[in-house]
Amino acid sequence: MSKIKDKSLAKNGQLGYKWAHAHMQILTNSIKRLEKSKPLKGITLAFCLQITKETAVLLVGAKKLGAHVVACGGNPLTTQDDIAAFLDSQGIQIYAWSGQTKPEYEWCHAQVLSHKPQIITDDGGDLNTRAHFDKKFKHLKVFGATEETTTGINRYRAMQKKGLLRYPIIAVNNAKTKMMFDNKYGTGQSTIDGYLHAMNLLFASKRTVVCGYGWVGRGVAQKCAGMGSKVIVTEVDPIKALEAHMDGFEVLTMNEAAKTGDVFITCTGMTQVITKKHLLAMKNGAIVGNVGHFDVEIDTKSLLIHSREVRPNLDECILKNGKNIYLVSKGRVANLIASEGHPPEVMALSFSNQLHSILYILRNHKKMKPQIYDVPKEIDNQVALDALDSMNVKIDRLTKRQISYRQSW
Ligand SMILES: NC(=O)c1ccc[n+]([C@@H]2O[C@H](COP(=O)([O-])OP(=O)(O)OC[C@H]3O[C@@H](n4cnc5c(N)ncnc54)[C@H](O)[C@@H]3O)[C@@H](O)[C@H]2O)c1
Repeated sequence: MSKIKDKSLAKNGQLGYKWAHAHMQILTNSIKRLEKSKPLKGITLAFCLQITKETAVLLVGAKKLGAHVVACGGNPLTTQDDIAAFLDSQGIQIYAWSGQTKPEYEWCHAQVLSHKPQIITDDGGDLNTRAHFDKKFKHLKVFGATEETTTGINRYRAMQKKGLLRYPIIAVNNAKTKMMFDNKYGTGQSTIDGYLHAMNLLFASKRTVVCGYGWVGRGVAQKCAGMGSKVIVTEVDPIKALEAHMDGFEVLTMNEAAKTGDVFITCTGMTQVITKKHLLAMKNGAIVGNVGHFDVEIDTKSLLIHSREVRPNLDECILKNGKNIYLVSKGRVANLIASEGHPPEVMALSFSNQLHSILYILRNHKKMKPQIYDVPKEIDNQVALDALDSMNVKIDRLTKRQISYRQSW
């Protein structure tokens, strides 16, 4: 039995699902092609993802392919309750509602694992780490897993290094057709949307500090610049810092950026990027927020001591030096909490990689070792071709002569 907030929201959720479905042809075409052969028949799939309309398209699709589908949220705050109700109405076992406490969030993970999934799709690693380290679930016979985001993969890398992985995990995040589009364009656009909802101030003319110039940071920096901001980048990786500099952005240390920025967006996946010292150095009225996976990038503890919500998803925080600093979505993923997250066209790329990686695990798990795998190149290329096809974009192919030229010395 599912546990959700309100079953009566299912009709609204269906409207959202239909809207996303209409804009995710890359994924829905694949599902249509496979539907008759039911390749997932008899398989239990567990999904720990942001419960959004785009995720609904993947989950309903997996059910159409024959799977028993169980799901929970990949974040305690971001579940869209109407979508959860719609998924429940489609016979998907779902344990997710918005505004969960930590124990509630963890309870949902345990419910999902109690269905004994053979394949797990995770976003951030909370479900996979639970399957690995909670004694209750050590007996599970998991064929393999797929991972949606950078932070999850970083966690499995640490586990792999210590020899603790029990099953293979495909790093879907690292597929080119995932991170170059979802992390960059998806997070870029939805971050602007989230910040605008929270603050409704001009980006133009502001000095916007983007912390981290990975795929997410690149997208956020590009979109902020497009809105007219003067973008400042902070980095710890010299190559990424050089790239940001060459891309035309000002690169500063966090100590310097703290003094000059008007708006701050952390995109690193790292802890304590904006510390108490940085907060105290900021201008009165500065706005800070995060779009990295966990709410560890900003020292929100010292911000929230004296605070009050002044707009939805915006807290005014009074520091001990008397300055007011504004915090977006309490330092949690702003693009998912203050906005709806990534647009469906981008999620169609990510979730096509997810679906094809799940099918790959099903076919190959007996040969796979408990380690992290890249998405096979054929899948990545096929997703790009499907995407181009859905956008009616044609490209050239190498001629025989060109192939032979490339192979000669
Ligand atoms: N909000 C979303 O919808 C969404 C979507 C995709 C990824 N993510 C998350 O965003 C985070 C970043 O993802 P990514 O794909 O860009 O990762 P990435 O590894 O490509 O980039 C992270 C960058 O941050 C830099 N960095 C690390 N510590 C830093 C510090 N102290 N100061 C400045 N820079 C620092 C790294 O050098 C790196 O260049 C991860 O937590 C990921 O899970 C969120």
